[in-house]
Amino acid sequence: MAVIRSALDTGGEVYRANRANQLALLDRLDEQLELAKAGGGERYQQRHRERGRMLARERIELLLDPDSPFLELSTLAAWGTEFTVGAAEVTGIGVVSGVECVLLAHDPTVRGGAMNPYSLRKTLRVLEIARTNRLPVINLVESGGADLPSQSDIFVPGGRIFHELTAMSAARIPTVALVFGNSTAGGAYVPGMCDYAVLVDQRAKVFLGGPPLVKMATGEVSDDESLGGADMHSRVSGLADYFAVDEADAIRIGREIMSRLNWRKLGPPPSPHAPAPNYDPDEILGIVSADVKVPFDPREILARTVDGSEFDEYKPRYGTALVTGWARIHGYPVGVLANHRGVLFSEESKKATEFILLANQTDTPLIFLQNTTGYMVGASYEQGGIIKDGAKMINAVANSEVPHLTINMASSFGAGNYGMSGRAYDPRLMFAWPGARLAVMGAAQLAGVLSIVGRASAKATGRPFDEEKDAAQRQFIEAQIEAESDSFYVTARLYDDGIIDPRDTRTVLGMSLSAVHSNTVAGRRGFGVFRM
Ligand code: COA
Repeated sequence: MAVIRSALDTGGEVYRANRANQLALLDRLDEQLELAKAGGGERYQQRHRERGRMLARERIELLLDPDSPFLELSTLAAWGTEFTVGAAEVTGIGVVSGVECVLLAHDPTVRGGAMNPYSLRKTLRVLEIARTNRLPVINLVESGGADLPSQSDIFVPGGRIFHELTAMSAARIPTVALVFGNSTAGGAYVPGMCDYAVLVDQRAKVFLGGPPLVKMATGEVSDDESLGGADMHSRVSGLADYFAVDEADAIRIGREIMSRLNWRKLGPPPSPHAPAPNYDPDEILGIVSADVKVPFDPREILARTVDGSEFDEYKPRYGTALVTGWARIHGYPVGVLANHRGVLFSEESKKATEFILLANQTDTPLIFLQNTTGYMVGASYEQGGIIKDGAKMINAVANSEVPHLTINMASSFGAGNYGMSGRAYDPRLMFAWPGARLAVMGAAQLAGVLSIVGRASAKATGRPFDEEKDAAQRQFIEAQIEAESDSFYVTARLYDDGIIDPRDTRTVLGMSLSAVHSNTVAGRRGFGVFRM
């Protein structure tokens, strides 16, 4: 295979400026990640500990195989909203007793672990990840149920959680509930729907209605333990399959359940030959342009991401604004599509279409590295059929059945987001680098378009056009779109699965590839490769 030779000048001014910009972005990211980790804050964490309970992240850490990595997802969910960043839960992919699985832990220090609209999106997303990649699910339950003030936004769609859990069981994807605390009302259906339920003595409270509600409904006087304690459920109702004496015991039992699953991944194993790249991934920070408008060569990124920096480029002389080719990451074969110079023309679209079809023929997962301003506009391009060519690419992406992994490196604008396997095109996992922007178009362009439309409308109806008001409005809209394009804003709304440090790209892709290989890896059948 051809080996990429880097042309990066690590001593230059541009490199230094790019690196400084990325480091500043990473500082901002770290700050927010710390906030997410702090959950409900010092006071609630302290109270939780005083009750002899472990924090959500401590439970996860104890459950995971010692020293194994955890790929946390949607860490900044709800960032910048009225809800606590992290959305009162921790989700991710990790290894328990040698089994790669999805973990979902409520954070009871944030409003009693109650689920708000962002927690719901985060939950549904991680369950989708589990289902599409065939990953067993472990729920670490301790939640006040629905966030009551926002019940209208979550009650109806929230039913989907139980639907997903039971559909997963039907698909023979194991589901486990470790109940550490409150799991009442709708929440009771989590242990109710899971294949395995473990309840912690004196802590688990699993009932449809607590003592006050029961009193109101039937007049019966009862208490927590007789309605939903671990002792009652393991001896009387049979809801609990396992009685845990304490939290650590529940985690031990959870690990034992996983070890008895007789679990086998369905995808092919990676090649044991997976040499590190020839260049230091740390240098990625100096490659990503500080100015979004300045393109950078994705081969420089690949040289620091793929095994042995080996990259077998496909059609290198055609449609050169998109780089396509074959490589391996941690021993897994991949096809890569990476934007080079922003815009997608007809040639790039046709090249991408063929390449995606080829990857489906050989059951090779695809990696999309986004840095695109979208498909080319203008009379000659329209006349040249850019819509049809872009449609071919989007069609190929939509109907491709090999796993897709997408990373927004710097920009993802317009239909380029669709063609490069954005969220709506079901990449199995999708991440962004901290400086990445995403929107229907650039902020200045969008504000300018609105201004032109306003001017034309005024002219058509004979109204005077207020230049001053227009300028102010333009500024306002530009600032609004700029803020909405920000990677934090995007990840807060679950339009990706998290922001990652660019230096971790190889590791994150390696873990993601390992996770997607839990399921069968097979391309679309029924068509050959259309030569465009
Ligand atoms: N919706 C919104 N906020 C909630 C909530 C819910 N379902 N459950 C708890 N909170 C809030 C509390 O109001 C409190 O806020 P504050 O600290 O600003 O006053 C905070 O979360 C912590 O709650 P607190 O009751 O002090 O914590 P706890 O650890 O002692 O008890 C629960 C936690 C979950 C057992 C208890 O709050 C509870 O029973 N909540 C209601 C559960 C329920 O009936 N849910 C409806 C199910 S659909």
